[in-house]
Amino acid sequence: MTTLEEREEELARAGHNLFNVPAPRVLVDLLTDSGTGAMSSEQWAGLQRGDESYAGSASWTRFREAVGELFPFEHLIPTHQGRAAEKILFSALGGPGKTIPNNTHFDTTRANVEFTGAEALDLPVAEALVPASRHPFKGNMDVEALRGVLAERDVPVVFMTLTNNSGGGQPVSMENLRAVREACGEVPLYLDACRFAENAWFVKLREDGYADTPVPDIVREMASLADGMTMSAKKDPLANIGGWLAMNDPALAEQCRNLLILTEGFPTYGGMAGRDMEAIAQGLREAVDEDYLRYRVRSTEYLGEALDRLGIPVVLPVGGHAVYIDARAFLPQIPPLEYPGQALAVALYREGGIRGCEIGTVMFGRQPDGSEQPAPMDLVRLAIPRRTYTQSHVDYVIEVCERLTQRAGELRGLRIVEEPATLRHFTARFQPL
Ligand code: F0G
Repeated sequence: MTTLEEREEELARAGHNLFNVPAPRVLVDLLTDSGTGAMSSEQWAGLQRGDESYAGSASWTRFREAVGELFPFEHLIPTHQGRAAEKILFSALGGPGKTIPNNTHFDTTRANVEFTGAEALDLPVAEALVPASRHPFKGNMDVEALRGVLAERDVPVVFMTLTNNSGGGQPVSMENLRAVREACGEVPLYLDACRFAENAWFVKLREDGYADTPVPDIVREMASLADGMTMSAKKDPLANIGGWLAMNDPALAEQCRNLLILTEGFPTYGGMAGRDMEAIAQGLREAVDEDYLRYRVRSTEYLGEALDRLGIPVVLPVGGHAVYIDARAFLPQIPPLEYPGQALAVALYREGGIRGCEIGTVMFGRQPDGSEQPAPMDLVRLAIPRRTYTQSHVDYVIEVCERLTQRAGELRGLRIVEEPATLRHFTARFQPL
């Protein structure tokens, strides 16, 4: 436990950026669900039998079989995490003059697209930008807008992020995925599938015709609509590190494998140790277990419903991996360019040692031309690490949020005093106004 004074000292040292606060000074860490889950006993057993052969290890075979069961793409390229898969794919497909549409790019995906000179274009449905709208599939893409973009621009690949992380952890329906597939025609469709199992669970719960379909079958159906995927194994696959790139196109696969050897490693381990591949192979089986998914999604909902009852504006319906507080609505006295999301994230840490993550104007406000604009929404994401915290931890988070509702009107914004050229949210320093 830390005292209020200690947390204020930490904030000053960190330049009011929670990425700079040492984890031991955080009581409940909801910064991310990425790599922060607890591995099962079977996954730990897998670590012990990791085969660390350089080429063609038994762990690679088990990893390839487990991925292939759910995502039967022809070519599998193992990477150390999701952004390495993105970097390799966009190095091959991006470049100036190209446009890459997505329901919504996450931060590293956007940055990797823009790094090649291509434009990263978000095409969410209108409901996705209305935090209080209870549309069941707010991760969907605006298919008409996509058709327009495909007709006018040079599009090497279309992406769909399952679930839509920047937009509230919201799922994409199978119907929308099918419509996007159809609109793409010959243009390849790729899945950014980090949270594929939570997305499939929402399809089962909410989409007509899927109530009796086993989750692995729903996942395979989603995969069958795509030409390839990028993956961070740090999310739904329940591992602490790892990822992959997969596709059907043999020529593109060869190009990507050559880049892999340059930056990650030999094609049968890429960026991972054999033991990491074992943990992922086992994690993938646990990720599609319906009892686990019911617990997972229900426990996130428990936090979201409690905040909603307290009158705290949250993105509804509650997402799969996180609760997103609508900071712009919660702190209307703070204009977007004074970063209401950052102000709220800092206040949660100061008040109770809780670390969340701003997903708003700090993360997305700086434009490729150097100008600054408000992001579509200013959210604070309270991401729930998988199988890590208990209900008591979550009840404590709810108590701290309740205390904050009494002080919300007093909170003030911040200004940025130092920032890097890209992905500024990781290292920027702030001063309270
Ligand atoms: N795509 C999505 C939708 C993500 O959420 C992330 C990571 C990545 C790609 C990149 O994967 O971290 O393994 O390189 N999201 C984390 C988060 C960091 O906090 O949501 P990575």
